[in-house]
Amino acid sequence: MFENLKDQPADKILALMEAYKADPREDKIDLGVGVYKNPEGITPVMRAVKSAEQRIWEEQETKAYTGLAGDPMFADAMIGLVLGDAVSRDQVSAVATPGGTGAVRQAFELIRMANPGARIFVSDPTWPNHLSILKYLGIETVSYRYFDSSTGGVDFAGMMEDLGQLKAGDVVLLHGCCHNPTGANLNLTEWKAVVARLTEAGALPMIDIAYQGFGDGLDEDAAAVRLVASSVPECLIAASCSKNFGIYRERTGLLMAVAQDRGLGRTTQGNLAFLNRQNYSFPPDHGARIVSTILTDDGLRADWQAELEDVRLNMLGLREQLASELQRLSGSDRFHFLAQHRGMFSRLGCAPEQVETLRKDHGIYMVGDSRMNIAGLNSTTVPLLARAIVDAGI
Ligand code: LMR
Repeated sequence: MFENLKDQPADKILALMEAYKADPREDKIDLGVGVYKNPEGITPVMRAVKSAEQRIWEEQETKAYTGLAGDPMFADAMIGLVLGDAVSRDQVSAVATPGGTGAVRQAFELIRMANPGARIFVSDPTWPNHLSILKYLGIETVSYRYFDSSTGGVDFAGMMEDLGQLKAGDVVLLHGCCHNPTGANLNLTEWKAVVARLTEAGALPMIDIAYQGFGDGLDEDAAAVRLVASSVPECLIAASCSKNFGIYRERTGLLMAVAQDRGLGRTTQGNLAFLNRQNYSFPPDHGARIVSTILTDDGLRADWQAELEDVRLNMLGLREQLASELQRLSGSDRFHFLAQHRGMFSRLGCAPEQVETLRKDHGIYMVGDSRMNIAGLNSTTVPLLARAIVDAGI
């Protein structure tokens, strides 16, 4: 049977990780996979995570199964973190998932169950794995314009024009904050216009929020999700704890289905639990328990927020340093968008051959579409990157 298998296309981001590891150059710079690194190049375990793990180790008396939806404390804590008081708890059905990717996958499956003919509109570009999973599930996608490489900002007019094709029952996948891969984001006025367009068309928003706290702050980054959830009849939200809690390998995420009609909650919750059971049964618990331990303890929560804020400000400082260094070297403002982008990533907007030149000649690794992980830099490597960008004629 195995002889029938065909080679699968390599995931571009993960292949880049391998290529970087294999490069013997000591001064190589990794701007590939979206993992936060501190100025020493380490992805640290956050202080509050260590404390929570210690507490769990001391106090946990069983590793018996939780529930198909995961531990309710985790869902409650995450719903509070993401949605604040935008909706009431009984409007939200939720299941714990293995990472944000697990939440995205379960959301797509729920959409396919509820409306097999639904098309999913995705930004051009979007996280490549969105497209890969959708293709694997056989769900039709339509791309909408999003990034304007001439300005480094959002092509909002193009986006709205493309969302003009929406039909009732379609789904629009949106990035809640810190757009991956571009770093360019809608402002709240634009979000309101998107909500109006979706409502008018009878389309359902699905929001992927994987970087809350990495852009403008925890509440600021959740403002769009809260606006959407409180304005539309129904929406889906896939949240990841990988980045903002730094617990990547623990695979911790939550899928939320929000409905104004509370009567839909019982069946929706049952379907989400059913999907968990079909795909992997009980979701992983360790990361979820770390998160709920932190979010329900005032001291741990304050410490986590303080460390997360340092992470955010470090990335913002690097953005500003890079934009000003590029302005100095190029004598132009054309890289100013790097300081305006938010989150971990920025798309430089250059040609794949130029990305290749940066890798070959300078040992600088970024994704082929010119997405850079800003957190892969530090104050010493920023000037090296800026010089390489200018030398490569970008
Ligand atoms: C990324 O975009 O680099 C991250 O979300 C990691 C991943 O799984 O691709």
